Amino acid sequence: MKIACLGGGPAGLYFAISMKLREAAHDITVFERNRADDTFGWGVVFSDETFENIAANDPPSAATIRSHFAYWNDIAVYYGGARVVSGGHGFSGIARKKLLILLQERARELGVNLRFETEIASAGELAKNNDLVVAADGLNSRTRKEFADTFKPVIDLRKNKFVWLGTRQKFNDAFTFIFEKTEHGWIWAHAYQFDADTATFIVECSPATWDKFGFGAMSQDECCSVCERIFANYLGGHRLMSNAAHLRDSAWLNFPRVLCEKWSHDNIVLMGDAAATAHFSIGSGTKLAMESAVALADYLHNEPTMPAAFAKYEDARRTEVLRLQSAARNSMEWFEDVERYLHLDPVQFNYSLLTRSQRISHENLRLRDKNWLEGAEAWFQHLAGAGDNFVRRPMFAPFRLREMRLKNRVVVSPMAQYKAVDGCPTDWHLVHYGERAKGGAGLVYIEMTCVSAEGRITPGCTGLYAAEHETAWKRIVDFVHAETDAKICCQLGHSGPKGSTQLGWDEMDAPLAAGNWPVMAASATAWSERNQSARAMTRADMDRVRDQFVASTAMAARAGFDMLEIHCAHGYLLSSFITPLTNRRTDEYGGPLENRMRYPLEIFHAVRAAWPAEKPISVRISANDWVGAQGIEPRDAVAIARVLQEAGVDICDVSAGQTSIRARPVYGRMFQTPFSDRIRNETGMATMAVGNIYEPDHVNSILMAGRADLVCLARPHLADPYWTLHAAAKLGDRGETWPKPYLPGRDQLYRLSGGGEPSTIAV
Ligand SMILES: Cc1cc2nc3c(=O)[nH]c(=O)nc-3n(C[C@H](O)[C@H](O)[C@H](O)COP(=O)(O)OP(=O)(O)OC[C@H]3O[C@@H](n4cnc5c(N)ncnc54)[C@H](O)[C@@H]3O)c2cc1C
Ligand SMILES: Cc1cc2nc3c(=O)[nH]c(=O)nc-3n(C[C@H](O)[C@H](O)[C@H](O)COP(=O)(O)O)c2cc1C
Repeated sequence: MKIACLGGGPAGLYFAISMKLREAAHDITVFERNRADDTFGWGVVFSDETFENIAANDPPSAATIRSHFAYWNDIAVYYGGARVVSGGHGFSGIARKKLLILLQERARELGVNLRFETEIASAGELAKNNDLVVAADGLNSRTRKEFADTFKPVIDLRKNKFVWLGTRQKFNDAFTFIFEKTEHGWIWAHAYQFDADTATFIVECSPATWDKFGFGAMSQDECCSVCERIFANYLGGHRLMSNAAHLRDSAWLNFPRVLCEKWSHDNIVLMGDAAATAHFSIGSGTKLAMESAVALADYLHNEPTMPAAFAKYEDARRTEVLRLQSAARNSMEWFEDVERYLHLDPVQFNYSLLTRSQRISHENLRLRDKNWLEGAEAWFQHLAGAGDNFVRRPMFAPFRLREMRLKNRVVVSPMAQYKAVDGCPTDWHLVHYGERAKGGAGLVYIEMTCVSAEGRITPGCTGLYAAEHETAWKRIVDFVHAETDAKICCQLGHSGPKGSTQLGWDEMDAPLAAGNWPVMAASATAWSERNQSARAMTRADMDRVRDQFVASTAMAARAGFDMLEIHCAHGYLLSSFITPLTNRRTDEYGGPLENRMRYPLEIFHAVRAAWPAEKPISVRISANDWVGAQGIEPRDAVAIARVLQEAGVDICDVSAGQTSIRARPVYGRMFQTPFSDRIRNETGMATMAVGNIYEPDHVNSILMAGRADLVCLARPHLADPYWTLHAAAKLGDRGETWPKPYLPGRDQLYRLSGGGEPSTIAV
């Protein structure tokens, strides 16, 4: 095959090498506009694991590259006057220039033609004289533009500013992050050694800080001098250097996140940064480029036709690239929002930094550096009041809200059972909640319990509006208190426009086949075309519903619940006031957020007055309507939380969605946790995270990184009432209390899960 590689970066060179290795007869030319030893940038990083994949493809080039690696294991973070170091991270660095020279040598050795100082104007023209053109022409790929109609690129220019500098100062003991507070705001550096006497020093800051420094108007030398002054304490008198002479004016950039819908056009295929970019803060661009090169070479050799090879290449690499891009995006966003975390204690800040891409889990950090993680766990437990030098996972830390003390941070999220009879809980509820309370969670919620018959979602929903309801709930609460050390929270709500609908396992949110009752909401809206239109609440309705909330609160207090939650989420009555999607009122309860919050706040204040002062109240909100700017977005959720915090709400239960049938949620692991994170760290209010959190690792990392104070699990508790006790056993934690009759089961589980068997009872 006659092959042209457009671009002599890592992708182009390594593809040429990989093809020659598979078939020496290929006629391959690499076209590079620069000279052989011209290069922008300093060092690149590989992690230990990722280099293994590349080494298997061509052991000789891997061996020479490895011989020039600078290795380090630690990550050091300077922040708030402390240097926190953790180990076991296993990275290597190499000068970009060195890497390219080694790849050029290997390519030459294998018979690849290298043409430097040759600028290619059109990949389309090149394609006419070649069987295959690999367009590895980098971030600003001309080929991507030439065939934009086919590739359909999306380029998202990110907000932070960064500049890639170098220094002779040694950072050879650790990959180093330095966060400095200046008169113009925070600015930080990512520094790593890549050869004996040079380190990369990337400086990054928000656009606001960048503007205040006036970096945009500075020459590259002036910019280096200002950065030297900012980071003087860490540079040991060494200069910062720029080698971006090819960029006019300042060398500061905004990172472009590149995605392309398609990667091939006839006999032209995109590779490396031309096809997709991953933010530099996870240092994987070069690895991605080289791995894609290996994959394409493989497919071209193993598939019968070029289109088949391209299809396989796109299919396989796109998944891998998307996975990496998603981690890179998390990391990039963490740096974009870093000012949100700069109030954290250095231990927690460090943890948050290390887990920012969400690829490194809590237990993975233990494998990397047990001592460091145990130090962090002890810090967390100390802060939670568990005592000094007490090492236990964060999920097993106590938590206090007013006078309510929870034994741990796991919460059984509210889940409607649809098993009530005329609003009255039955033996189903006694067994169901009794089991969850025995299962080890610190706090067990009951389902949304309605303040009136017409406030129920379905005929199977529970209520607290009749004396027999109070009696039945008291029986359940008494059982929980007598037989377990869990606390129990009553979630009070009113269904509003989503009322009078079918049981959850019939047709959720659909009207009843017969016997519908009239519903009301903030405005005269309908949940869907099939649902009845709600009546807009009058002031008299508002008074009545407020009084119903108060009456139910008094019943919940007499029943002995430990905590109360007001349900202001998921499109129900109070939620219908908060979201602009359903609140079209023109009076003082509609319009700006302050007005839309007025009625939910009125309910809160009335309920607070009727609820014992020593017991906490939470409010559940939908932090994102998932419809874009027309609805609630996470930034609005912060404003909502501030209002709740000022009113005296003790904790915000941060859910999302279910407020509109137009919602397009973006699901994934822990997908709603960023909203809790944002609220907690921007307002200082205590929060609970919920939504697709199902592993102990998720819970521990959310808590340890300060993304929530409590973690709610719903569906995992339907599948396993004993989720917490099972998690503890699996993790080897022997500190959770089991119900006495179950101790033999516990002991067997401990034995089977590899730990010792405490002989606590004589049988
Ligand atoms: C600040 C920063 C730090 C980074 N740190 C790391 C890191 O630590 N680890 C890591 O793995 N990656 C890192 N990267 C990313 C990494 O540099 C790229 O992902 C990687 O170089 C992509 O390789 P490539 O071959 O696709 O593109 P490039 O390396 O950009 O190569 C493209 C080549 O094509 C040539 N070219 C372009 N157009 C033409 C034309 N028309 N004619 C002829 N030649 C042309 C260019 O001159 C260039 O040499 C970093 C990037 C930045 C911006
Ligand atoms: C069967 C079922 C019933 C639910 N009922 C309620 C409820 O009564 N009140 C409420 O606020 N959320 C309710 N939810 C939402 C959950 O509390 C939780 O927010 C959601 O399921 C996401 O958590 P998960 O991914 O752990 O399941 C319910 C969820 C399920 C699965």
